[in-house]
Amino acid sequence: MDGTKTAAKPPNPAETVTLVENSSGRRWDLPVLSGTIGPKVIDVRKLYSETGYFTFDPGYTSTGSCESRITYIDGDKGELFYRGYPIEELAEHADFMEVSYLLLKGELPTPEQKRKFEWDIAHHTMVHEQLTRFYSGFRRDAHPMAVMCGVVGALSAFYHDSTDIYDPHQREVASYRLIAKMPTIAAMAYKYSVGQPFMYPRNDLKYADNFLHMTFAVPCEEYRVNPVLARAMDRILILHADHEQNASTSTVRLAGSSGANPFACIAAGIASLWGPAHGGANEAVLKMLTEIGSKSRIPEFVKRAKDKSSGFRLMGFGHRVYKNYDPRAAVMRRTCHEVLDELGVKNEPLLDLAMELERIALEDDYFIEKKLYPNVDFYSGIILRAMGFPTSMFTVLFAIARTVGWVAQWNEMIEDPGQKIGRPRQLYTGHQRRSYVPLHRRG
Ligand code: CMC
Repeated sequence: MDGTKTAAKPPNPAETVTLVENSSGRRWDLPVLSGTIGPKVIDVRKLYSETGYFTFDPGYTSTGSCESRITYIDGDKGELFYRGYPIEELAEHADFMEVSYLLLKGELPTPEQKRKFEWDIAHHTMVHEQLTRFYSGFRRDAHPMAVMCGVVGALSAFYHDSTDIYDPHQREVASYRLIAKMPTIAAMAYKYSVGQPFMYPRNDLKYADNFLHMTFAVPCEEYRVNPVLARAMDRILILHADHEQNASTSTVRLAGSSGANPFACIAAGIASLWGPAHGGANEAVLKMLTEIGSKSRIPEFVKRAKDKSSGFRLMGFGHRVYKNYDPRAAVMRRTCHEVLDELGVKNEPLLDLAMELERIALEDDYFIEKKLYPNVDFYSGIILRAMGFPTSMFTVLFAIARTVGWVAQWNEMIEDPGQKIGRPRQLYTGHQRRSYVPLHRRG
């Protein structure tokens, strides 16, 4: 799907890192690979066959799991690029469909390519009518992410004509279906939870507008999409669209590496996204702000966050890669003010609280030393709540946006001629071999 050529430089045989086994003096030269930007990597693919050692890196803090041309993050500078374009420029000038095309195909679309792409996506927004019956099988109070895991996984039982992952056309159709149907499925999850009828998609509306329509319109009256809110929604989608090899994307790649169909892989990604350390943080931030309640209690919560034994963390703070302000959080903060102004919210106590919490944390030695800054999830919940979304829908919105990143990364993996099933090894610390003891001789 991505027609661009690989940009990674071939290994330079002169550039190696030497591994020395102290006990024997044996030495191995490990090749060093360079990307177009970013740190170099030590190529350990032949390490086990040549040395008998594995690397040990739980949490993959020092491991590059794949070669990718899609998204680049410089965590120290706080930079995020999609296909080379800085996120701030895309959030300011592009719309989500343009960004989706860019992520999937590698280049920004021409006007004609954009029109066709939007038409293709719009004409996949409906879901099979039988799929709508799934919803009545769920409890009304089910978390919408639970519904998303189930319904998105079930797509593979409906769209058999787009599950052959080795056929590029089928892969494209499956990718378009997932991007197009995700807002429909999400809005239906919301409608089911509030007992309102499902609203069919409207293909004359833009992607974000259509999602707001399916979520907030009711059949008995006309619903006009507020353009400021639609633009804010579109920007939220852009900011969350991809983020290189994060937990959910790596989950999608790992599930897909076995040859599983794309609908099942994206359902796996949704499950991974749900956790509070990842996409579930936007929901957790709002719960935390509500619990803090007033500015006078901020020092107490900051103190708890610094105390490891409390098990409490400031939600919406810190990131595995960013050791600087998350560039998405800066855009999100501005968008938050725009949305509240548009809605005439003069005084939003949670926003005041969030800004005060940010100020106090950023002046605190603990947060400075550990380079903990607000991340994308810190302000998004306040915007979404002001728009009328219940807290439980926040991570669902993240899932809608991230679907394009997931499918772009999944396609890139399938197209990679060197792709192998993902199969990490382990450091075994259990029992050595022992013999079975019959039941009557135990205890
Ligand atoms: N509050 C207090 N202390 C923190 C926090 C926090 N939010 N985040 C990290 N730390 C401390 C942590 O205790 C550790 O201290 P020490 O070095 O003394 O052991 C140090 O900072 C490094 O943390 P870590 O857990 O080793 O770092 P990580 O890269 O494994 O975790 C993280 C990254 C995002 C899971 C973590 O910062 C966190 O739990 N943040 C809160 C949840 C959150 O906002 N998640 C959204 C991430 S952005 C959107 C997304 O990816 O979906």
